[in-house]
Amino acid sequence: MKTLFDSTQVAGMKMKNRFVRSATHDGRADASGHVTEKLIRHYENLAKGGVGTIITGLTNVTDIEKIVPGQMAIYNDSFIPEYKVLTDTVHSHKVNIIAQLVCNGAQNRSKNEGVLWAPTVIEDMKPVAGIKEMTQDDISIMKEAFIGGAIRAQKAGFDGVQLHAAHGYLLSRFLTPYFNRRTDEYGGSTENRARVVIEICNGIRNALGADYPVWVKINCDDFMEDGLTFNECKHICKMMEDAGVTAIEISGGTILSRTGEGAVRKITTETESYFMRYAAEIAEETEVPIICVGGHRDFYKLSNILNQSKIEYISLSRPLIREPELINRWATGDSSPAKCISCTKCFGIETECIFNK
Ligand SMILES: Cc1cc2nc3c(=O)[nH]c(=O)nc-3n(C[C@H](O)[C@H](O)[C@H](O)COP(=O)(O)O)c2cc1C
Repeated sequence: MKTLFDSTQVAGMKMKNRFVRSATHDGRADASGHVTEKLIRHYENLAKGGVGTIITGLTNVTDIEKIVPGQMAIYNDSFIPEYKVLTDTVHSHKVNIIAQLVCNGAQNRSKNEGVLWAPTVIEDMKPVAGIKEMTQDDISIMKEAFIGGAIRAQKAGFDGVQLHAAHGYLLSRFLTPYFNRRTDEYGGSTENRARVVIEICNGIRNALGADYPVWVKINCDDFMEDGLTFNECKHICKMMEDAGVTAIEISGGTILSRTGEGAVRKITTETESYFMRYAAEIAEETEVPIICVGGHRDFYKLSNILNQSKIEYISLSRPLIREPELINRWATGDSSPAKCISCTKCFGIETECIFNK
């Protein structure tokens, strides 16, 4: 029988329990993405709360694209010593930390200067300032930026990286037929749309060897017209397995998803753990450990998910914004549900729960 507090290993990385803090942008970096004291304190607070592994918020790998205010970045070597302070702080609590690497693409609606890359500029979408259809040279620059970000993350002491290929960020848009209407080898068939993600995985493997953890967050389904489908997602998970991806986090939805079917949902007790059935099916079909995110609130339901499926890890975002100490609370016997009511009012310049203000 599996328990939520089992200690396990994923490709050599020790996990003290099966809880993962899912990537959560917190708006605490400075205007150019650099580490601040309040960012370090924020992660220290999370690490003290008992979660086994923390995935950072969106961390941009380039300074070509404009960044979201307060977003972390890792586009040159000046970030290495400052992230070393962050990773040392988290490690001192015996918690792992994984850097979520991203290019924002047209998901970024901020008014900052800079370009936003897109696989295709789509005429019928609301125009986004700075949007640029990527040339093959841009794609090569982006791939190198992800690989460079991973190399720096390793030097800075991160236990691994996660490629953000979900929710409509740039890599996710390559996967989605609606957003990707390219006619070159990066558009068209499922293999072509997934090519860029696989090439980045291979590039990181070539640079850092077979052992460095490379995780991917992907949508099980975009839940939109002409979106990535569940069948395609399963196929891409197999491709990622072949490319040596170490763990896959299953999410879903983009900004164009049907109402109530996005990534960050309002939930009731009946609709908790909303990507569970997709993650469970994928876990049956791949050897790669599967992390399931989305609407987890009940300790006993989570124990059941672990034991009734091959899902290995449970990731949470909003519950740890409301209660950073939730995992310690559960570990010490108070297994009442997470207090998060999924109002989703935590989105703001600096992510914070309205009940903690
Ligand atoms: C304030 C906020 C910021 C988020 N930032 C990110 C992010 O940086 N990267 C990411 O992949 N997902 C991000 N998410 C989505 C979460 O990781 C997670 O997939 C989603 O909130 C569902 O899980 P939950 O019910 O545990 O909140 C964010 C969610 C919230 C509420």
